[in-house]
Parts: sequence; structure tokens; C-alpha cells
Amino acid sequence: MKLTLHIWRQSNTETKGEFKTYELPDVSEHMSFLEMLDVLNEKLISQNEEPVAFDHDCREGICGSCSMMINGQAHGPDLETTACQLHMRKFKDGDEVWIEPWRADAFPVLKDLVVDRSAFDRIMQAGAFVSVNTGNAPDANSTIVPKMNADLAFDAATCIGCGACVAACKNASAMLFVSAKVSQYALLPQGDPERKTRVLRMVAQMDKEGFGGCSNTNECEAACPAGISVNNIARLNREYVKATLTSRES
Ligand code: SF4
Ligand code: FES
Repeated sequence: MKLTLHIWRQSNTETKGEFKTYELPDVSEHMSFLEMLDVLNEKLISQNEEPVAFDHDCREGICGSCSMMINGQAHGPDLETTACQLHMRKFKDGDEVWIEPWRADAFPVLKDLVVDRSAFDRIMQAGAFVSVNTGNAPDANSTIVPKMNADLAFDAATCIGCGACVAACKNASAMLFVSAKVSQYALLPQGDPERKTRVLRMVAQMDKEGFGGCSNTNECEAACPAGISVNNIARLNREYVKATLTSRES
């Protein structure tokens, strides 16, 4: 099939970006979206033009780095699918495709489709760890965890830190990401010793990074490739209120 691509080109954080249009013939429906961009880049390089910069690592929906808006939707039109898992069979011959980087003040554009998501790393560094000495690896099932909590903690732990929730939110809120990380620990006994300091410090860092407040529109959940539920945001709010009322750090 033949596609017309409108791609955001921006040399660096300081320069102004703009959409540039490229015609790409012979796109196979079996290509992934990133393979299609690889083909475009080979063509651009052969024409002595600058290839399009985009992030990617695993190309199997795990690393969370292939962040881009495709026709206005974070990671494209498929539910619970990263851009690297999206296939060109979703598009038709003659389609126009608009490809942009995440738009959020806390994620400055570095080049073309690549944004700086280190704000997420700093939020993780503020509290998403267990620092108590837990000793040697325990025998399986020696720490009793209710089945429902184990399942909910596992669901929260599937967040891949891609930032689609931020990109989809009209307030560029990071609440779904932070709530997944807080929930993952709050639901397990291993996370209990630092439960209050964790939520207070991670929320403080989230605010410091300039993410907006929750817009309550659930766009984050709709855009999330890992299917993280907004129920985690409700848990984050409960954890935060409890910690604010009872922690010496608050
Ligand atoms: S909550 Fe979902 S959309 Fe947000 S960073 Fe995690 S995986 Fe990505
Ligand atoms: S490249 Fe790793 S999730 Fe897409």
C-alpha cells in the first residue's frame, strides 16, 4: 500500500518543530509501525536526508520506549498495544498518517519523535523501591499474600513507564503511572515499611516535575498499552490521604 506520512521534525529542544510530509510506496501490511519507519529512514538516508529520530528498544511491548502519537492517539489506534506492536494492516492504501512526539511540558522534545522522559525516572528514584534488608531469597509462599492483593499488585506492576497516560491526558497528568508504582508496593507486605514515605515523596516529585492534576476523564486508562486501571488512582489518593494524616514526614 501507499501511505502519506506527516511527521513532526524538530532538530532539538530549542528549535521550533514542524510537520514534514513524506510519500512511502510499497508498505507491506505485515510490517510493524516501527519497521515502516525503518523503511522510510533507509529511503531518507539514501537521499542524503536526515532520518527521523524515534525511540525504541525491545520492539515487543516491554520497554515502553516507542512513544509517539499516531493519528492523535497515543501508540496508535489499537487498544492495549504499543507502537512497536502495531501492524500496518491497521491502515489502508492511500491513508494519511500523522506522527507526533508526546506533548507535555514535563517531557521536552529532544529531537523529532524523541522526548525526555527522565521525569519518570526521578519519580521512581523518590520512592519506588524497597530499601529494608529483606535477606536471602525466601522459599516460595513463605510470606502469605492474599490472592486478590497478589493479582492486583501484579496488574499494577505491568506498567512499562511509556508515558502514554501523560500524553493522552489534557492536563498531562502522571497520576496513572505514579498510581501503578505506588499500588504495586502498597498491596504487598514487602512494601509496607516505606508505605507512607513512598507515596508522599513520589507525589511531591510528580508535582515538582510539572505534571498536571488528574482530569478524571479516564483517557489515561484508554491509552495505556498495559491496561492499567484508574482504580489505582483511587488507591493512590487513599494512600496519600492516609500518609498525610499520619506520617511525620507530611
Ligand atoms: S500507566 Fe500505562 S500508559 Fe502510563 S506509563 Fe504505565 S504503561 Fe504507560
Ligand atoms: S520498543 Fe519496547 S515497548 Fe515498543
